[in-house]
Amino acid sequence: MAEVVLENVMKRFGGTLALGNVSLRVPDGSFVVLLGPSGAGKTTTLRMVSGLDVPDSGEVFIGGRAMKGLSPAERNVAMVFQQYSLYPHLTVRQNLEFPLKSPLLKTPQAAIDRKVKEVAEVLQIAHKLENKATALSGGEMQRVSIGRALVRNPDIFLMDEPLSSLDAKLRADLRIELKRIQAKSGATLIYVTHDQIEAMTMATHVGVLNEGRLVQFGSPRAAYEEPVSVYAATRLGQPRINVLPADLFAGAPAGAKSIGLRPEHIVQGDGEEALVKRVEHLGDQTRLHLTLKRHDLITVTDAHTPLKGGETIRIRPSQPLYFDAAGMRLA
Ligand SMILES: Nc1ncnc2c1ncn2[C@@H]1O[C@H](COP(=O)(O)OP(=O)(O)OP(=O)(O)O)[C@@H](O)[C@H]1O
Ligand SMILES: [Mg+2]
Repeated sequence: MAEVVLENVMKRFGGTLALGNVSLRVPDGSFVVLLGPSGAGKTTTLRMVSGLDVPDSGEVFIGGRAMKGLSPAERNVAMVFQQYSLYPHLTVRQNLEFPLKSPLLKTPQAAIDRKVKEVAEVLQIAHKLENKATALSGGEMQRVSIGRALVRNPDIFLMDEPLSSLDAKLRADLRIELKRIQAKSGATLIYVTHDQIEAMTMATHVGVLNEGRLVQFGSPRAAYEEPVSVYAATRLGQPRINVLPADLFAGAPAGAKSIGLRPEHIVQGDGEEALVKRVEHLGDQTRLHLTLKRHDLITVTDAHTPLKGGETIRIRPSQPLYFDAAGMRLA
């Protein structure tokens, strides 16, 4: 259990600025999800906290202690990578025991056995404990990697897209388990994902990174409803937020260059005329692909809508977000 603080952390790789003066306070016991496209600096942020890499300037604090000069082992941090990193010549059981077998810990074998059993059950790999690590599917290997982090009871978990190689059902199960484990253990978790549902359901806070800068940090709801910029707005929401010229609809405030409309924030019945290009029935909802004055947009509607491609409807915004010429949100 510990707070994590990054203070003006800067990191370059040759000519590439991976992180530029990132300051971030991750509260004790929180579940922080880092969002951002490829190259935004998400993995680099985790590596700064873990000690696998060191900042060029700035400082990392865990539980109030400056981490400068401390190795990963000295930080009581467990990291799970996107690519599983197991000892191939060891069995699943031996892989899971490994972090507990450190001579420094002096954990009794009975306690190790208990812990391994508990974690294996949570991760649904108890029946594979005696298998060689190489004799597992990709999803199973990834669960063992997560298991190796869980057995240690670290203060901080750092996870880099840990569920992305798993199938949808297992991902949904493990999402709930991880959240439960984190809530129960009180550990602080910093988690990287591209998965919308993971971000919205697991995070107590989301951090939005753009080209090595932290552009927004707050609750998932605030990130969704009150994005600071077009960039931040497009990080969350599936289908993506529609970003259109502000003057397509009446009512734009002075200085508004574009209007952001979440698909569910478009009302039908009155307003501007739009052409229905395509209707996608997804079972629980239907997506309408529309064109309004040559601009494409997507809205969601009733699952049983009788609308068909080629028809026209009238639409207006219900909760518009306005952005200026630089893409920053207007208050
Ligand atoms: N070891 C390295 N050597 C050189 N450049 C690096 C190294 N690690 C990261 N970078 C660069 O730093 C930037 C940030 O990389 P980082 O891995 O943190 O991105 P990311 O947000 O995790 O992206 P992804 O979603 O693709 O995993 C990128 O431009 C990347 O190419
Ligand atoms: Mg990465």
